Amino acid sequence: MDRNDVGAALNALKDHRAAQDSFDLRAAFSEDPQRFEKFSARFDDLLLDYSKCALSEETLALLAALSDAAAVGAQRDRMFAGERINVTEGRAVLHTALRCPKGAQLLIDGKNVVEDVHQVLDAMEAFAEGIRSGSVPGSTGKKITDIVNIGIGGSDLGPAMATLALSPYHDGPRAHFVSNVDGSHIADTLKQLDPETTLFVVASKTFTTVETMTNAETARRWIEGARGSDAVGHHFAAVSTALDKVATFGIPQDRIFGFWDWVGGRYSLWSAIGLPIMIAVGSKNFREFLRGAHAIDEHFRTAPLKENLPMLLGLVGYWHRVVCSYSARAVIPYDQRLARFPAYLQQLDMESNGKAVMTDGEAVGTVTGPLVWGEPGTNGQHAFFQLLHQGTDIIPVEFLLGAEGHEPELRHHQDLLVANCLAQSEALMKGRTPEEARAQMRAKGVAEDEIDRIAPHRVFSGNRPSMTIIYRKLDPYTLGRLIALYEHRVFIEAQLFGINAFDQWGVELGKELATGLLPVVEGKESAAGRDASTAGLVRHVHDLTRA
Ligand code: F6P
Repeated sequence: MDRNDVGAALNALKDHRAAQDSFDLRAAFSEDPQRFEKFSARFDDLLLDYSKCALSEETLALLAALSDAAAVGAQRDRMFAGERINVTEGRAVLHTALRCPKGAQLLIDGKNVVEDVHQVLDAMEAFAEGIRSGSVPGSTGKKITDIVNIGIGGSDLGPAMATLALSPYHDGPRAHFVSNVDGSHIADTLKQLDPETTLFVVASKTFTTVETMTNAETARRWIEGARGSDAVGHHFAAVSTALDKVATFGIPQDRIFGFWDWVGGRYSLWSAIGLPIMIAVGSKNFREFLRGAHAIDEHFRTAPLKENLPMLLGLVGYWHRVVCSYSARAVIPYDQRLARFPAYLQQLDMESNGKAVMTDGEAVGTVTGPLVWGEPGTNGQHAFFQLLHQGTDIIPVEFLLGAEGHEPELRHHQDLLVANCLAQSEALMKGRTPEEARAQMRAKGVAEDEIDRIAPHRVFSGNRPSMTIIYRKLDPYTLGRLIALYEHRVFIEAQLFGINAFDQWGVELGKELATGLLPVVEGKESAAGRDASTAGLVRHVHDLTRA
């Protein structure tokens, strides 16, 4: 790959954008009745509609040329083959191996990692099914009724998001997630629990993360206080790559589930980090979840560009971010059980692509990852959609919609949900012209001077981009497909930016400074030498708490 070729391809896209500055989506739809067919793609029941974005076949051809120049296909193959594409940490990137079927082969340093993956999966299954059936009870022999995952970032967001998403399949113990070092999080959780019937899963790739270790210590004291220190082994399990550190915490070997340095934290819910999901929904459903992700892996590897959902999502994402200069993307699931999906995507996308240097350390010549945010529809409609429709910033929206709900008896709710989702993308695209606004008011008998006064406020510019992803139903297989789709989208955009999506040095500085500030906050060291603001803030906290 030659970055000059990438630059030339990008310049061609920018020229093309400048030439189509007046692109009007309303006109594009009325001129071309085939627009939806041309700019949508399907993978089984999964549909990606990107026809409501300001692009043409020429745009797609130019984006395809950019992808060729950035060697996205070759980079993808290097990732799947286990090459060390995480160059700043010298690691392979193989979350895709976590969802390979039994019997597949992927050799890393002469070792078939798929065998290791399935060994851990089988061990997780034995443990999870034991917890679910009661054959692996708490210290007093009682069946476990509640599990508490203690982890943060990738060791929390994925399992928490997926457990909520799969609640119709949740027939195991209740699941709780404690992540924040704010003591209120664990305190409020413990209040609901009985130590005799609670299992803590301490999840940390490194087993050093201060939030997780602090919460795990508090949980251990809670168990020790209620049932004595011998009970700890019955009420804890752990998931980590740092097996030595877990052992010193006092968790028995047969309750420790490992994974590998080639699994990034934000890509880890397919590994043993998914243990709480498996305990909640059972191993059969968890394996369906993996199977869905694997189906997208194969699709990403083999489908031609115009049918390749991750490629299209990535290329259109890049078009919006870099060529159109839109700084954010909103992800709006019309699926209440995907309420945590935007938060999950924030880590996946922003921790991966919030970078300013390329893999060779040179500054990136373009903007990189956008701000990713969202909330479920229809709630968002009554909160922030005003800005999406009439605000001064254009924010491309990605709508996610299940065609079917899990509640057939609530058909009317589902029809309303679908109608609202589709209406929002229609409204963003069509808008409402001044003439339409005036005519609508006139039809209601509003006086002409009042129409003059109010009409400007009722105009919607329209021509605002959105994509819609529709799937049949949010089952484990589909959830796996959706997450893998977004994982690959992030990867594709990273290749186009030329950055390493798999490190996260940007989280280090705050952690280091917090460690240094702790003794100051505790009053053991003075704030002398700190900047005046930080010292002043510490002083104010002390004034409020140490009167
Ligand atoms: O916030 C940085 C980070 O390293 C994330 O990448 C990771 O998911 C999270 O912390 C938790 O790390 P660990 O699983 O090692 O506790």
